[in-house]
Amino acid sequence: MLTMGAAGSLITVADLEVGEVRRILELTDRLEQMSAGDKARVLAGRRVALLFYESSTRTRTSFELAAKSLGATTTLVSDKSSSIEKGESLKDTGLTLRALGAECIILRHPASGAPFVLERATGLPVLNAGDGMHQHPSQALLDLRTMISRLGLRGKAVDAELLRGVTVTITGDIRHSRVARSNAMLLPRLGAQVLLCGPAELLPEEAASLGEGVEIVRDFEQALAGSQVVMMLRIQRERLAGLEVDLAAYIDRYQLTRERLSRLAPEAVVMHPGPMIRGLEIEGEVADGPQSAIEEQVSHGLAVRAALLVRALGAHGLREV
Ligand code: CP
Repeated sequence: MLTMGAAGSLITVADLEVGEVRRILELTDRLEQMSAGDKARVLAGRRVALLFYESSTRTRTSFELAAKSLGATTTLVSDKSSSIEKGESLKDTGLTLRALGAECIILRHPASGAPFVLERATGLPVLNAGDGMHQHPSQALLDLRTMISRLGLRGKAVDAELLRGVTVTITGDIRHSRVARSNAMLLPRLGAQVLLCGPAELLPEEAASLGEGVEIVRDFEQALAGSQVVMMLRIQRERLAGLEVDLAAYIDRYQLTRERLSRLAPEAVVMHPGPMIRGLEIEGEVADGPQSAIEEQVSHGLAVRAALLVRALGAHGLREV
């Protein structure tokens, strides 16, 4: 069931039908092929606000650089250096940004659902840059584009069959991961099988109810053996809320090591949304190895987020260039 918010918002992948995913990826390709000069006219003079209540390197920087590459003006408001510290609400912060001319707000927030609140309060398109343990839709789209590229699927129709026969294992702290949730909802719509892997404290049984095409496999080696893609996740210490994890046992069972990869999945693409903790969920040699697509994910993030900004603000400038 699709929910309709402000035109151009992207808050959850639940709102992304396959046809819309195809249009976003086509727009991404089109923008990527443009010259820097033409691209800088697409959103010339438009105003984009980045509102971040949690730390970010990749998402914040890529949205900001993407907006600037399209000619938009950006402003960053962070919880650590703004009137949010004085107790100003999300609603009032949003209304203030709107009064200052913001036409689109990119929001990262620790509370699941915060982007809906902001969208309702301001009527502006809101791009969800990660809300609590809920959703990270632009991450799922950039992950999809990375898979398409790495699995040699560029040029194939983006439809319900695109990833048929592809198994993606997502391993680690699924419980607290908005990235896992968004990917587990999006990838099966394109035909992929998603295996969720991790210990019970980080992967509750309910996670299997994320939808068709999603299954829990506790044994990492079993999951790896049939996978074309393996996505590793960080243990989110900031969200553990007293939950104890035996790190030595975790590393022993779930770390992606060279040995496991070369023995069980020698052709698999290795992904990680970042930030990664080398030596915990992934060995440094694997992160830097030939199967790793981790830096490519970051580059695809810049490209996909440019398309999401154009989608949010209207493609008027795109028709003129
Ligand atoms: N993947 C991701 O969201 O990274 P950042 O927290 O650095 O934005």
